[in-house]
Amino acid sequence: MRILSGIQPSGALHLGNYFGMMKPALELQEQGEAFYFIADLHSMTTLTDAAERRRNTLDVALDFLACGLDPQRTVFFRQSDVPEVPELTWMLSTVTPMGLLERCHSYKDKKAKLADDDLERVNHGLFAYPVLMAADILIYDSNLVPVGRDQKQHVEVTRDIAIKFNHLYGETFVIPEPQIREEVAVVPGLDGQKMSKSYGNTVEIFGEEKAVRRKIMGIVTDSRPPAEPKPDADRNTAIQLLRLVAPPAVAKDYEDRLRAGGLGYGDCKKALFEHYWNYFAGPRTKRAELERNLDYVRQVLRAGAAKARAKAQQVLQRAKQASGLE
Ligand code: ADP
Ligand code: TRP
Repeated sequence: MRILSGIQPSGALHLGNYFGMMKPALELQEQGEAFYFIADLHSMTTLTDAAERRRNTLDVALDFLACGLDPQRTVFFRQSDVPEVPELTWMLSTVTPMGLLERCHSYKDKKAKLADDDLERVNHGLFAYPVLMAADILIYDSNLVPVGRDQKQHVEVTRDIAIKFNHLYGETFVIPEPQIREEVAVVPGLDGQKMSKSYGNTVEIFGEEKAVRRKIMGIVTDSRPPAEPKPDADRNTAIQLLRLVAPPAVAKDYEDRLRAGGLGYGDCKKALFEHYWNYFAGPRTKRAELERNLDYVRQVLRAGAAKARAKAQQVLQRAKQASGLE
């Protein structure tokens, strides 16, 4: 079984990325042949600073390796190191109905947000984004795609495109399945909305101690006094995040005390910071080591790209043959 996922190098990775996508993907490493990549071509749709892209790309590589990506088992690479992907993207785009892309929530949201201040940033890449993603998935005969819920529609678009191509040109592509962990499908951010780089409400996986403490203490809460019982304790952002980083019994204890009344939000946030800090202690040490050994990190990505390309070339060849390009 081939498992495939990607993540954009568009900023520091956060707890939403970690629990929604990275952790499930890392746990799947043992279940099959995993291909994980850094979607630098996708990041061009929104990020236009070259130095930032270069730095983010290396940061994502460090984050994944520090969090337990095993380069002996898993093929880990940069999207742009596989030029067969943009080649397949063109072929797929010719069987992609415009309406399919016009219906994508992610495109509609980004367009609505950008249109207010800068219509010029609504570029063609943003619109064609799911077709590039389809090529990413289909070119490695992927079976399973672990992602957070916001990417589900893109995997469904991929399936539609693959079915259409297979129908027109004969069986060419494997039809992939998304895999979404319901319990972490949407990790909340500091303001209670979905945690996202674009909302400025993130807790970074490898944030600086003081800065993260300040952010966590600033989680938005209501003005009910500590003594007042909180029947809605399970919807509290600090409790929801605590459930991810603390042992279940500890998180439940805080939730119960908040519900009963007598526990202040400040104490929940302090506990959240402590558990968050301990949870990533091992990866933090590993990351610092890797940072002193960037040649190794670059070498991992190069070796991954060579393996990914070998597979991509086979599938591209199949698609060319089927469609009469060969
Ligand atoms: P962002 O919204 O911060 O830009 P991305 O779109 O780059 O994040 O997401 C990368 C991966 O992390 C995707 O698989 C996405 O579904 C997952 N992800 C991002 N934010 C969350 C979240 N708050 N909860 C669950 N999964 C998330
Ligand atoms: N669009 C994904 C995101 O923003 C990243 C991505 C690109 C991806 N290609 C992919 C994820 C292929 C899974 C499979 O998170």
